[in-house]
Amino acid sequence: MKKFIFMNIKTYVALGACVFASCFVAVAAGSGFVVSDEGQSSPSGNVITVQTNRLGAEIHPTMYGVFFEDINYGADGGLYAELVKNRSFEFTPDHFMGWHMFGNVALRNDGLFERNPHYVRLGSSGHSDKWTGIQNEGFFGIGLKRDAEYRFSVWARVPDGKPVNLLVQFIDQNTNEEHQEFAQTTVLIDSKEWKLYEVIIKSPRTVAKANLRIFLTDERRRSGGDSTVDLEHVSLFPVDTWMGERNGMRKDLVQALYDMRPGVFRFPGGCIVEGTDLATRYQWKNTVGPVENRPINENRWEYTFNYRFFPDYFQSGGLGFYEYFLLSEQIGAEPLPVLNVGMACQYQNWDKESAHVPCNEADLQPFIDDCIDLVEFANGGVETEWGKVRAEMGHPEPFNMKYLAIGNEQWGEFYFERLKFFVEAMRKAHPEIKIIGTSGPNSEGKDFDMGWQAMREQKADLVDEHFYRPVDWFKNSMYRYDDYDRSGPAVFAGEYACHDKGKKWNHAGASIYEAAFMTTLERNADIVHMATYAPLFAHVEGWQWRPDLIWFDNLRCAKSVSYYVQQMYACNRGTHVLPTTMLTPTPKGEDGLFASAVWDAEAEEYIIKVINTSDKTLPVKIQLEGVKKVAAKARMITLNCSDYDLDNSVDNPNAVLPCESEVATSGNGIEAKVPAKHFVLYRVSK
Ligand code: AHR
Repeated sequence: MKKFIFMNIKTYVALGACVFASCFVAVAAGSGFVVSDEGQSSPSGNVITVQTNRLGAEIHPTMYGVFFEDINYGADGGLYAELVKNRSFEFTPDHFMGWHMFGNVALRNDGLFERNPHYVRLGSSGHSDKWTGIQNEGFFGIGLKRDAEYRFSVWARVPDGKPVNLLVQFIDQNTNEEHQEFAQTTVLIDSKEWKLYEVIIKSPRTVAKANLRIFLTDERRRSGGDSTVDLEHVSLFPVDTWMGERNGMRKDLVQALYDMRPGVFRFPGGCIVEGTDLATRYQWKNTVGPVENRPINENRWEYTFNYRFFPDYFQSGGLGFYEYFLLSEQIGAEPLPVLNVGMACQYQNWDKESAHVPCNEADLQPFIDDCIDLVEFANGGVETEWGKVRAEMGHPEPFNMKYLAIGNEQWGEFYFERLKFFVEAMRKAHPEIKIIGTSGPNSEGKDFDMGWQAMREQKADLVDEHFYRPVDWFKNSMYRYDDYDRSGPAVFAGEYACHDKGKKWNHAGASIYEAAFMTTLERNADIVHMATYAPLFAHVEGWQWRPDLIWFDNLRCAKSVSYYVQQMYACNRGTHVLPTTMLTPTPKGEDGLFASAVWDAEAEEYIIKVINTSDKTLPVKIQLEGVKKVAAKARMITLNCSDYDLDNSVDNPNAVLPCESEVATSGNGIEAKVPAKHFVLYRVSK
């Protein structure tokens, strides 16, 4: 087992002054630290020695990934590019949520999609000057971009066989101009039977909060007279989605994910996997097949915090398991689905055994079947029941799923007892799948220890740890994984973020601690195989939880400083850990300097990450032991987190960006001064 040994030089070093007296060091017996004579100091301040000839553990390609949950309008209203809210009129208790109706509009429930039976009937208003129609407000408005094309589609029929024209408009309800509509087209509905109609509309302008208005008209675009039309699944998508998929994702948001080069993609949650009660848990089988027939589900983040309440927050299922697998493939990440273990959210049900499925094989079987069938859906041949569903959706090739998390953030005996049945069945049916269990919501303590113990006993392959913790916790956890037991399951740091006390929102001052903390993930890549920050996305008008990695409104997105921290690690993952020692003037970590190093066998480069969390510039000498001389110049990427309260926003997305430059090397390494609250990364070649 490799060990990262820190050495302590008791000597005062003139920090920031670039003048260092020479330092005599000696190992203090039994302490594991190196100490120096008083009055002497290191010639170069902190000495980071990278042992290039002692290749350490391989770094798993899954090491840095993303965790997606439909929280903060991350899916509907976010990543999922559908612009119409409540497109199937299934929201409850108000089936017209998100819609304004005018004239003669009636809700009916004998539609053609059995799992979404509601639709609207538009009929005569009784007077030619009274208009009948419907208008959708979108998610915090509908964001439209100038010259972009949008695909309007609707399932419709004319029950009496008399053709009608739908006048479909993009409107700005708040304008003072003569016309509210700024783009419009007509769609002729001429079939007595339900049929899908669609038309492309180009937007002549950029509007962040447009509405979609549909008038029932006659052939001359006048009020619809005595005509009748039925409308179902009213939809509007940008044509230009990620990779042009019809049921697609918002391009800028997927691009942000892609640019992180994530190694793993965990989905779909989070607490939504569990549901506040079992009836509202996430059920993947409801999210595959034709989108029109995927039943909606309430989103528990609608009401989890009554001080940030969103009655219109539902899951359309449009971003379902097929789309998640496809997205994983498209962004080059291993898919990591999370399924329900027969338990409703423990946070909301505490010790209520009755909230969960009775703990016996028969009652748990449908949940176990969900796991086994999911493997078939993802990997099975096209002749299998679920493989066929995948193939019919457009992906006959398997998705090559390798991991399955069973349970989200569970703890205690309720969980352990249920998990047993799942593990047994999965090992029998699919021994090739790696099973991920959980250690619950705590980063340490009794429940956490019990969780790990149970996961060891049940031989889980990985344990999903969660820690949303304050700065102090991060400060004290910079070596968290150095002493982890190497004989049991590996670690998946599945949800984590630095939540600064009194500042539970994004800011650079917290992100720098995440950067420093990640050195312990990296150094311990033999035991830590995956790590994902959480949550991922947040709509600026619809968030329930902060901080988040990527913020967006209807038109723009902003990558947080924490995003850039993640990106710097993920894009500079390397292939092997390099044992690294650091000679510092204070005990381990006390001066706020942290480092780790890896070898990138493909690029043939050494990557050294140095994080200065302190308030002072720290001189650093990096030496690559085993290399005589490195190339004259190294690549350097710097993330300046010194403006503590600053972060990027949709209005100012470039406030804090990583900067790339070249730096001159010296001998077998680099001598540098790392400014306060900076994350500096070097790529050095021989
Ligand atoms: O990421 C937000 C929530 O935090 C997740 O849904 C849950 O797993 C955790 O409690």
